[in-house]
Amino acid sequence: MIDDLSAIILAAGKGTRMRSAQAKVLHRVGGRPIIDHVLRAVSKITPSQILIIVGENNDELKLALQGENVEFILQEEQLGTGHAVLQARSRARGRTILIVPGDLPLLTPHLLADLCERHNADGADITVLSMHPEDPGAYGRLLRDKGGRPIRIVEARDATSDELEIPEVNTGIYCVKNDSFLWKSLASLKTKNSQGEYYLTALVERYSTKGRRVLAVPVQDSHEVMGINSRAQLVLADRLMRQQKVEELLTSGVTILDPERTYIDSEVVVASDTEILPGTYLRGRTVIGSRCVIGPDCFIANSTIEEGCYIRYSVVEASLIRAKSRIGPYAHLRPGADVGPEVRIGNFVEVKESRVKRGAKAGHLTYLGDSEVGEEVNIGAGTITCNYDGVEKHRTTIEDRAFIGSNTSLVAPVTIGKGAVIGAGSTITEDVPPGTLALGRARQVNKEHEEDKGEER
Ligand code: UD1
Ligand code: CA
Repeated sequence: MIDDLSAIILAAGKGTRMRSAQAKVLHRVGGRPIIDHVLRAVSKITPSQILIIVGENNDELKLALQGENVEFILQEEQLGTGHAVLQARSRARGRTILIVPGDLPLLTPHLLADLCERHNADGADITVLSMHPEDPGAYGRLLRDKGGRPIRIVEARDATSDELEIPEVNTGIYCVKNDSFLWKSLASLKTKNSQGEYYLTALVERYSTKGRRVLAVPVQDSHEVMGINSRAQLVLADRLMRQQKVEELLTSGVTILDPERTYIDSEVVVASDTEILPGTYLRGRTVIGSRCVIGPDCFIANSTIEEGCYIRYSVVEASLIRAKSRIGPYAHLRPGADVGPEVRIGNFVEVKESRVKRGAKAGHLTYLGDSEVGEEVNIGAGTITCNYDGVEKHRTTIEDRAFIGSNTSLVAPVTIGKGAVIGAGSTITEDVPPGTLALGRARQVNKEHEEDKGEER
């Protein structure tokens, strides 16, 4: 796309305004770390290299980006955005350098591509991407001369009240020629500002006073380049991303009854003709098939739901629900649940690390853990797989068409054979052969009432 381009992503900042122990760029928007969104946008314009400036304690960040085709560069001390870029001096090989702050989660690739194309077409030495947000707030103000040429960027905290009135501000994204003038300028930055930092923004004044060609290109939609410095901005960006996701899904044929009360992460996939009811969270890598009804009030994370399922008032994590199954209300499918097709998991039923096959039913008050439940098995109310002996977990196998009476404890490891029947209230500690009836409970005794003894009727 753009020839010989090196991208530099700035991610070493401390993010003080977030008041967090976690690196700012690892906070999540639309269910994914901010840096992840930035990296995806940058990757899409296929630069020849992507350099990420990180700080000393950024192991977590490196871990989050493991496997990505990026090079990390350490900025030992966070002395400012200009100092951050300077760290890439010996590593940036491209003819052109694209600089992107790591805290712009709503960034789009087309915007970066447009900037680079404008920069090249104009033959500029440096091109700043600017914007006109509704509230210029804490963004750096872009000053232009009478001819409209950019001459300086002044940070809001260093600006005069007149300068603060300027509606055009810096997005923090730049395209710049990779030449000795750039590196000399960065190396000679001064820290004469209210934060005592080496500001990257000072390049604009340097380039312009030295007669270099400076261009500033405003973006249309300032939301796309919204920077995240505080929790308030974080939740706003999250809301914007969610709105965008809902619009996409509505367009693709998914009904979302109340978008304001539906929380769908950016990566989630939902097929058409599915209906999503209020209070529902679809998180992470969740995939939902067509003709499902999800909600109200469901939390579904990293799960696959096949077509034609109904899930109401339930929590589903890292699970697979096969076609035409009905879940809830108030069911909890924990990691490793694989249920369906046509299974019924009813109220107050918990399933963990278990395969529940076609047509099986567990309608009420049940725990199925580390189990294999065969086709058309009927699990009575109050059935518990006792999978944990205090030290180890054991498996329960219930073969096809077995019938488990209500209030049964199945003490694992144990196997219930095909078509076997377990009497209600049993505690089953031994395997039950196929086709047999098992009763594991004390025989009922009816005794006369004490007061009645000896009295004649
Ligand atoms: C910066 C710009 C401001 C612009 C705004 C757009 C400067 C001085 N100001 O301000 O003009 O309007 O972005 O969002 O550049 N970082 C490092 N190392 C450092 C300092 C920062 O890697 O030593 C990284 C941060 O992790 C962050 C990015 O650089 O991702 C921007 O830093 P930040 O402190 O957020 O700058 P702003 O105050 O938002
Ligand atoms: Ca910022």
